[in-house]
Amino acid sequence: MSIMLVLPYNELRVYYKSMHIGIKSNNYTVIDLFAGIGGFRLGFERAGFKTIYSNDIDKWCKVSFDGYFGEGALDLRDIQTVDASELPNADIVLAGFPCQPFSKIGKLHGFADARGTLFWDILRILKEKQPRAFILENVKNLMSHDGGYTFERIRDGLENDLGYHVYYEVLNSKDFGLPQDRKRVYIVGFRDDVEFNFPEPLNLKPKVGDLLETGNVHEFYYLSQKYLDGLEKHRQRHEAKGHGFGYRVLDPEGISTTCVVGNMGRERNLIKGDIKPPGTVGRTGSLVNSDGIRKLTIREYARLQGFPDDFEFNIPVTQAYKQIGNAVSVPVANAVAIEVKRALLGFDNVVRPIPEAALAQSH
Ligand SMILES: C[S@@+](CC[C@H](N)C(=O)[O-])C[C@H]1O[C@@H](n2cnc3c(N)ncnc32)[C@H](O)[C@@H]1O
Repeated sequence: MSIMLVLPYNELRVYYKSMHIGIKSNNYTVIDLFAGIGGFRLGFERAGFKTIYSNDIDKWCKVSFDGYFGEGALDLRDIQTVDASELPNADIVLAGFPCQPFSKIGKLHGFADARGTLFWDILRILKEKQPRAFILENVKNLMSHDGGYTFERIRDGLENDLGYHVYYEVLNSKDFGLPQDRKRVYIVGFRDDVEFNFPEPLNLKPKVGDLLETGNVHEFYYLSQKYLDGLEKHRQRHEAKGHGFGYRVLDPEGISTTCVVGNMGRERNLIKGDIKPPGTVGRTGSLVNSDGIRKLTIREYARLQGFPDDFEFNIPVTQAYKQIGNAVSVPVANAVAIEVKRALLGFDNVVRPIPEAALAQSH
């Protein structure tokens, strides 16, 4: 089977969606904590899992989340105030949680040590709910954070306090059909001693050019000449000192750097768009740059994370970039979900469904 991108982006999405009708529900229910805008949820639902509860503290996430998954889909609360008994029982708990430092004072152990962190809330919910499996996601640096102490405590809590069989691995979104270099650690735990393997990288060659918006991209996204000159000066200053590198214009044939929250993420993921006619005024009221350099649009950013084009962001622009930058990459979540399903349903009896990213790009 040759793996080549042959369809224009929009047709690809339709194809990609229709292939999913073939993946049957497996009746496993899911609780999605720190749900953000639901990257984890989408990946798991596409593998046939059924979400019965989602929680996040961010009001803008709720606008996007409910807009896509339905009114009332997200419980908007600080998880620290939610008693585990209020949550439904579920087979799976998902949590792409924010990383917070653990207290090293006195080098306590497991549960006691985690107290006061959001990881503590995951532990207490897992302890009460005893799901068949959990899947946690975080930045790769979680593993080296605080000299490895944070990760050691996390494993200790999950394995020794809760008694789960824990697996972890760093997965990169570029290996799962997205043209984005994004390394994240996935921690998977099972109540029973099942056989589990992380998904293997797919043999795909995604490139940024495949997901750029076609047509006239709004002036809003183009940098002003003054701003671009400022970025260039900044880069030169740093290069002269022999460290760091500043803004980056992506090669459409290549992949992007990680979509992270904040300006830096966007400035390292610029693209050369159409050169606007001289005199075109951009977002700040200044003239747009003469090289046609622009930011990736919100839609392009969302595509880099695997969100479908009917996912709407009716919120302030900075919030939209933030939500997308914070999200779990959908095809990676999907590939992990498929392996979790195989582990739970019996490794040898279940034929591995083809991950959505491979379906979308093969013919
Ligand atoms: C890395 S993002 C989550 C990405 C998401 N899991 C996904 O699948 O795309 C972390 C999320 O944790 C949320 N959060 C932070 N503190 C929280 C708290 N105390 N209670 C509930 N949610 C919280 C943030 O609003 C943010 O959306």
